[in-house]
Amino acid sequence: MPVHGVCPERLDAFRDRESARFARVRPKTRRLLDQGAQAWLGGVPMHWMRDWPSPFPLVVKRAEKARLTDADGFEIDDFCLGDTGSMFGHAPAPVARAIRRQARRGLTYMLPSKAALRAGRLLCERFGPLVWQIATTATDANRNALRVARAVTGRRKVLVFNGCYHGTLQDTMVALEGGRTVARPGLVGQVFDISAEAVCVEFNDLDAVEAALASGEVAAVLTEPVMTNSCMVLPAPGFHRGLRSLTQRYGTLLIIDETHTQSSGLGGYSRVHGLVPDLFVVGKCVAGGVATAVWGMTEAVAEAFTAYDAARPSGHSGMGTTLSGNPLQFAALEATLAEVMTPEAYAAMEAGAGRLARGLSGVIAHHALPWHVARVGARVEFICAPGPLRNGSDAAAAHAPQLEAALHLGLLNRGCLIAPFHNMMLVSPVTKQRQIDRLIAGFDEILSELTT
Ligand SMILES: Cc1ncc(COP(=O)(O)O)c(C=O)c1O
Repeated sequence: MPVHGVCPERLDAFRDRESARFARVRPKTRRLLDQGAQAWLGGVPMHWMRDWPSPFPLVVKRAEKARLTDADGFEIDDFCLGDTGSMFGHAPAPVARAIRRQARRGLTYMLPSKAALRAGRLLCERFGPLVWQIATTATDANRNALRVARAVTGRRKVLVFNGCYHGTLQDTMVALEGGRTVARPGLVGQVFDISAEAVCVEFNDLDAVEAALASGEVAAVLTEPVMTNSCMVLPAPGFHRGLRSLTQRYGTLLIIDETHTQSSGLGGYSRVHGLVPDLFVVGKCVAGGVATAVWGMTEAVAEAFTAYDAARPSGHSGMGTTLSGNPLQFAALEATLAEVMTPEAYAAMEAGAGRLARGLSGVIAHHALPWHVARVGARVEFICAPGPLRNGSDAAAAHAPQLEAALHLGLLNRGCLIAPFHNMMLVSPVTKQRQIDRLIAGFDEILSELTT
């Protein structure tokens, strides 16, 4: 009985073949991982590095443009691009130069540099006239934005959409189960009930948003413009307009997390589609791969926060980390905003991603599979179910973990790395047409093996 259009026995045989092939040709990688196994928990420095679909992770020797070279010397076209951290290609030349320059002037000193002040102006030019703060991760930027929203509204709750991901910010780790907001299972060491301070509803469901906001308890809606962390869910026509007017009607702030949707075009989805958030978050690629995130607020939110800040008891704010705001971040941020994140770069990404999406759609149609392709600018995803998806529940039902893992591994063995956890492929401005075509051809070859 086919599952997501593919016969399970054929899938098992394919996965076993591909796993053996991956392992057979990587003796050096395996040796290196064995050497590190004693020192690192689970043998890797971040536990999720074990979650790639290969029998063991790649060990990377170097990364340039949109290509990785692994420890065994294989050159791999990189469509994962650090899951957006390297969306503009690995170590873009202006960023690498800025890092070298800054390294001669010190790496961290808890004071602004001249580049910091220039970068502030560039942020306004790129993303709009907001008032900015810096952080090191998008998780932290979201955490800070939510603190400010709670502070200025005097409300406790955050509304998020079922299936969302906003980093490891625990306030958002809830799901919708039988119409109720529940804490997600699997959170390590979680000792208090997150669902007490969060409301979870389905994306694209304005009635549910209104019902939640009407309680008057919700400080902020925190959302991506497109749900990118499940199988991709695009906003229905009018959804963002409705969300903005409901949040305004009920005095709730709107935080738009553009960490992934920077793929949409210059200024992110908000600028391209005219969204008007109260707080705006962007991380990952904003400093060309150097750990940096920024969050901005409107003049009105900034004024309200300044008043709040002046009146609160002195002491820790609960926002900020020692290394956030270091001059290396600003050097990389300025170089990225000024020289990397350009209209020309986005035009190349858009053209490449269009080619990739058309190619993958053609392959799916050729194999008569009930799958579809979704895209937000440079970010392309194949989904092993019919579309479009409306919300997180649809996305969860569309997710096919075993099939997807086999596809990822098959692509890797054919020289193409795509993002783990979902089927995302990013096209950078330095991704070559032949790399895109190789990915399409690899996908076609794999689907032939799985279906005929
Ligand atoms: C939409 C969104 N926001 C925030 C984050 C958190 O980013 P970081 O892991 O850099 O903190 C992620 C990570 O994938 C994300 O997808």
